[in-house]
Amino acid sequence: MAVPEVTTVRDTATIPAPATPYQGDIARYWDHEARPVNLRLGDVDGLYHHHYGIGDIDHSALGNSVGSEREKRLIAELHRLETAQADLLLDHLGPVRRDDLVVDAGCGRGGSMVMAHQRFGCDVEGVTLSAKQADFANRRARELGIERSVRAGVCNMLDTPFVSGQVAASWNNESSMYVDLQDLFAEHARILAVGGRYVTITGCWNPVYGQPSKWVSQINAHFECNIHSRREYMRAMADNRLVPQAVVDLTAATTPYWELRATSSLTTGIEEAFLNSYRDGSFQYLLIAADRV
Ligand SMILES: C[S@@+](CC[C@H](N)C(=O)[O-])C[C@H]1O[C@@H](n2cnc3c(N)ncnc32)[C@H](O)[C@@H]1O
Repeated sequence: MAVPEVTTVRDTATIPAPATPYQGDIARYWDHEARPVNLRLGDVDGLYHHHYGIGDIDHSALGNSVGSEREKRLIAELHRLETAQADLLLDHLGPVRRDDLVVDAGCGRGGSMVMAHQRFGCDVEGVTLSAKQADFANRRARELGIERSVRAGVCNMLDTPFVSGQVAASWNNESSMYVDLQDLFAEHARILAVGGRYVTITGCWNPVYGQPSKWVSQINAHFECNIHSRREYMRAMADNRLVPQAVVDLTAATTPYWELRATSSLTTGIEEAFLNSYRDGSFQYLLIAADRV
């Protein structure tokens, strides 16, 4: 698909004011975020993720190591599982061509953007509220020599500068819990071409449980976010021309990651809330892939 007039969001020199005081809080949160659990994992191979992992632990990779050697191997293993998560998201983007444009909404430090470009050869635009994150992602793209194809900008994902209908695929990787879903999916539906693909990986509270559990409330407070229910995702997609093609419950697949992470020195104090809410069924880790119709 040709993308003649796409406005890039490359320039981080002029930073738009956050649309709301809450967005200002979130921009500050991510500007100051430097948790070792994110940075030391990214240092393994230069792909910086701010999301969780999926898949079985490779115990042979950990071996019988102890002390700092165990910590080093554990970090590499957690990072492998986080990269596997992004790979699964990309698996659901569908056939993306080299001349396509894809959009990473809430791109963080840009790990998924780099992976998308490396897999498809396409252009990738990412948006984040954090100038620090955008600069980090753009610096990594320059280091990799892919800055002409991979660009991050400081921008509200509810109000992006992309031309309507010009985007082949777009996604939210653990970033949809910071916004109203109706507003979010209206913007994805606007920028996506008809037949384009939208994918999210997200934690959501399970309506079968009844209401958000105390663990879900703890996670909200920890990250200053607002986790939505599975029902809200389905309803907001249906309201905005996004028709689910695949819904994958990744809860069992992410649990080993949290169990391993809880044994590391990089714990952030939120591990127990994730494990308890996954175990009591109040919280789910979900991938939803939808067609823009
Ligand atoms: C948990 S991080 C996920 C980062 C990235 N998707 C990843 O997988 O590594 C959440 C991201 O959402 C972004 N975000 C939250 N609200 C946003 C908004 N309204 N517009 C743009 N980005 C937003 C934050 O700036 C942050 O980069």
